Amino acid sequence: METIFENNETLVIEILEDLSAKQKHLPSKLFYDEYGSHLFDQICDLDEYYLTRTELSILNNNIDEIVNVFRPNTLLIEFGSGSSVKTKLLLDRLNNLSGYIPIDISEEYLYKSSEKLKESYSNLAVYPLAADYTKPIDIPIIKDRVERKITFFPGSTIGNFTKSEAKDFLKIIAAECGKGGGLIIGFDLVKDREVLLAAYNDAEGITAKFNLNLLRRLNREFGADFDLSAFEHIAVFNEEDSRIEMHLTSLKDQSVRIGEREFTFLQGETILTEYSHKYTLGGFKELSEDYFTIEKYWTDENNYFCIAYLSVKLK
Ligand code: AVJ
Repeated sequence: METIFENNETLVIEILEDLSAKQKHLPSKLFYDEYGSHLFDQICDLDEYYLTRTELSILNNNIDEIVNVFRPNTLLIEFGSGSSVKTKLLLDRLNNLSGYIPIDISEEYLYKSSEKLKESYSNLAVYPLAADYTKPIDIPIIKDRVERKITFFPGSTIGNFTKSEAKDFLKIIAAECGKGGGLIIGFDLVKDREVLLAAYNDAEGITAKFNLNLLRRLNREFGADFDLSAFEHIAVFNEEDSRIEMHLTSLKDQSVRIGEREFTFLQGETILTEYSHKYTLGGFKELSEDYFTIEKYWTDENNYFCIAYLSVKLK
């Protein structure tokens, strides 16, 4: 499966830079090649991984109230749409949208899903956009009547951004949706650390495979020679920054080649591969309040996950 990056050369530069930093790291967007997307689907089915299941139940249990925030002639924009499973719950109940723009990095998957959507929702105008939304993108101008724009950003993907990246991203969404616009966003809540740690250290080791797949991908697509058995998955909870951090730990002193470049690893040194921030409602308000007002939010009986509806603040 091809993914859309601004161009491969820029991505190579990004990877080499990230691995040259004091704390070596890699972009989380690299997780989602075909095998990685498949592993992520498996993660979503794990007992320990409560996120997807909980978010879906919140959507299902509150769907009437959630679709109520839409008025006629709204353009729906979604970042990281995948197969639009969650969006279908909205689309099933919204028959007066001016259009739907699913945005995803996996081009082939995006176009296939969009074709299926067009079949299921014959009245819906679907405008798929293959793009890496961690970089600036141009959202197409839709000529049909658009009175309002709402962005859908489920899945706690906002948690992958650092606080400052998340703020930048929210700023871009606010600017894009503009006056009268809104954002429906899913984010993971702070909870018992045992529950959090189990979700990222599952007993079957699927998350470990998902994490190590980054190195496999560097080997296959970027001319690297990582020995996958010489690195180990770890996930820790960073209390101070309220986030799960996934790393790959080098099990020995070793050097690895990527094309012409060589990188050395000490035994125990790690590559940071993902942040997954956990918010309190107050923390999320603080994060978003420069650009948005939280109008409504919905959660589950355990208070594990939150879906919120935010309106764009007028400046
Ligand atoms: C899809 C980014 C929300 O942060 O929980 C799952 C990805 N990483 N297991 C998350 C993930 C490890 C996931 N997000």
